[in-house]
Amino acid sequence: MITVSLLGAGNRGLDTYAAIAQKEFDDVKFLCCIDEDQERLMQFQKRFGVGEEALYKSAEVFFQGPRQSDLLIIATQDKSHYALAKKALRKGYDLILEKPVALNVEELLELEELSNKLERTVIVCHVLRYQKMWQMIKEIVDEGKLGKIVTISHNENIGHYHYAHSYARGSWRKKSTSGPLVLTKSSHDIDLLYYLVGSRIKRVASFGSLSYFHSGNAPKGHGERCESCAVRRSCRYEGERMYTSFGGFFPLFTKNKYTRRAVKEGLRSTDYGRCLYTMDHDVVDNQSSILEFENGVSATFNLNAFTRRMHRSIKVMCEYGEISADERTIEVSTFELQPLFSGFLKHLLHLDRKIIKRIRLYKPWDFSKYLGHVDADRLFIKSAFQNYRLKKQSLTSISESIHAHIAALALEEARVTGETVLIEEFMDKNRTK
Ligand SMILES: NC(=O)c1ccc[n+]([C@@H]2O[C@H](COP(=O)([O-])OP(=O)(O)OC[C@H]3O[C@@H](n4cnc5c(N)ncnc54)[C@H](O)[C@@H]3O)[C@@H](O)[C@H]2O)c1
Repeated sequence: MITVSLLGAGNRGLDTYAAIAQKEFDDVKFLCCIDEDQERLMQFQKRFGVGEEALYKSAEVFFQGPRQSDLLIIATQDKSHYALAKKALRKGYDLILEKPVALNVEELLELEELSNKLERTVIVCHVLRYQKMWQMIKEIVDEGKLGKIVTISHNENIGHYHYAHSYARGSWRKKSTSGPLVLTKSSHDIDLLYYLVGSRIKRVASFGSLSYFHSGNAPKGHGERCESCAVRRSCRYEGERMYTSFGGFFPLFTKNKYTRRAVKEGLRSTDYGRCLYTMDHDVVDNQSSILEFENGVSATFNLNAFTRRMHRSIKVMCEYGEISADERTIEVSTFELQPLFSGFLKHLLHLDRKIIKRIRLYKPWDFSKYLGHVDADRLFIKSAFQNYRLKKQSLTSISESIHAHIAALALEEARVTGETVLIEEFMDKNRTK
């Protein structure tokens, strides 16, 4: 039996991780919940049937008492992770810890050192490593038939409406409260590149800005909130239209109710009903980066809001072939020896490559495989508890994850200063404030 407490019973903590664990495991027992929001505590209580004494409105009070479980899941908002994780480690908890683990180099290294010193397990929620697509790409690369990776082109296509929701109106809109976009959105992406290449990142350069989603582009005659806006009918991001057509996001502010009335009420009372052009957000909406790894591999990484679909796409270019993937399919092709003369004709007819694998990752109607980060959330939780039970190292231990966090912070430094940033130097400079 693995016993677990949950700190932060929001979208990730309760609706995702605890819900999946409850469904997948009989021997994982949720004992306590800590959340500042009474309604969230009630939802935990309803789901797990615990008594009042198992519910805490304050993390301070929870940590004053004795250790309550083997594991603690920390899924509060970004800025609180470091302090809560530090307290939890000292109290003797092993952790499933949401990313970002911390928001600066000093705190990241401190948590890594502390968990090693106390010999505590920390499993970081870099869930994408567990996704079928990334596991398959890693297998193909490691198999070696395509030769070594030479370079990678990777895109994090945020999706214009997802940016509008999370990064203009939502919790991740300000660097001062949650960190730069390249950390909050893309510690995942940097971690995936590091995982595929299998070598640490040596130096980075980066460029980007808040180019479109700002007050300069607010439509003429706009209001402060959508409900009172004179031009709402022609605005792509008008709340009711946006949230009822991209429904995936609205439970976050309708307290899990899926009705039009709940959407209208939520829009009236939360930031999600404000004009996104005139919000106080300051994170960039586009960032293009170049990374060089210690083993000589290079990668370009484009992170941007200006895409129709919300997905990641990658091209891994190896010595004898390439892998292209976009969360729907993976295609592996090799560079063929072309026959004399007819080779040019084959080239014109697009027949000059040999596709050795084309994998369709899921069927369009199979929502269970698409939702939850294309099933990665479920695979992550399964693996986290299985490994924890067997006392095996997880795929996303704190040491693996910290490097991606530090590289993401270095990318932001490179963007702001316009300099190429050497990771080792950046780390040393920021080790202690
Ligand atoms: N791994 C991923 O792929 C992934 C995806 C999305 C979000 N996240 C991260 O997960 C974390 C949680 O995101 P979310 O969308 O679930 O947020 P959320 O706002 O839905 O949930 C956070 C919950 O924590 C509670 N809370 C906040 N501070 C608290 C404190 N000090 N003590 C007790 N309760 C507290 C809030 O009341 C809320 O219920 C964030 O750090 C976010 O960046 C990770």
